[in-house]
Amino acid sequence: MGNQVLMAPSILSADFTRLAEAVQLIESGGADLIHVDVMDGHFVPNLTIGPPVVKALKRVATRPLDVHLMIDDVDRTIGWYLDAGADWVSVHPEACFHLHRVIEAIHDAGAKAGVALNPATPVGILRDVIGDLDYVLLMSVNPGFGGQAFIQHTVQKVRDLVSLCRDEAVDPVIEVDGGINALTGALVSEAGARMLVAGNAVFGEPDPVAAMQVIRSAAEAAIV
Ligand code: DX5
Ligand code: ZN
Repeated sequence: MGNQVLMAPSILSADFTRLAEAVQLIESGGADLIHVDVMDGHFVPNLTIGPPVVKALKRVATRPLDVHLMIDDVDRTIGWYLDAGADWVSVHPEACFHLHRVIEAIHDAGAKAGVALNPATPVGILRDVIGDLDYVLLMSVNPGFGGQAFIQHTVQKVRDLVSLCRDEAVDPVIEVDGGINALTGALVSEAGARMLVAGNAVFGEPDPVAAMQVIRSAAEAAIV
């Protein structure tokens, strides 16, 4: 697994009138990916950004776009996001009829494929697709909004996922998303997470770059 932790700040908590500046700022501070939260007002009770904004972000970002699709009807619309330039794409199996087909579509477009699990969705659901995934995103809040409190059970869930991966002899990147700060980031990285999303704990701070670096340092220091 290595002892490096990838940082994927979520621009959901950035100023939407100045997204390009937000992307450039966190890239200058060493962000590994840019986490983009797509919400459709159906799968989650919030409506954020869609394919045209993903396309616009792609023009300014130099790091990969980590596009988290919190949408219904993934099967029908996945192509929109791939065409818009998403580099890493995670989909929720709770909203997807043909998960394996969607994973194939993501790979066919040359992107990295991930599955995102809600807090109440067990990791065992991944057993038959884990070998096809580049990453797994574990939600540590109920999806829909930034700034929510971390659900502690996620730490055990990371461990369960590590154990499933060991059983299946695979090594996808484990990403955790929701309520991540230096403390919770350390807890999940100690359990096996190697990619952290942070929105409020980065963009809600006066110095987002310094805040991101503090989270990364705490997370990497927690790896034994
Ligand atoms: C929540 C989103 C998260 C969110 C994280 O539904 O998927 O990516 O932006 O924000 P924080 O870090 O503030 O919990
Ligand atoms: Zn997200």
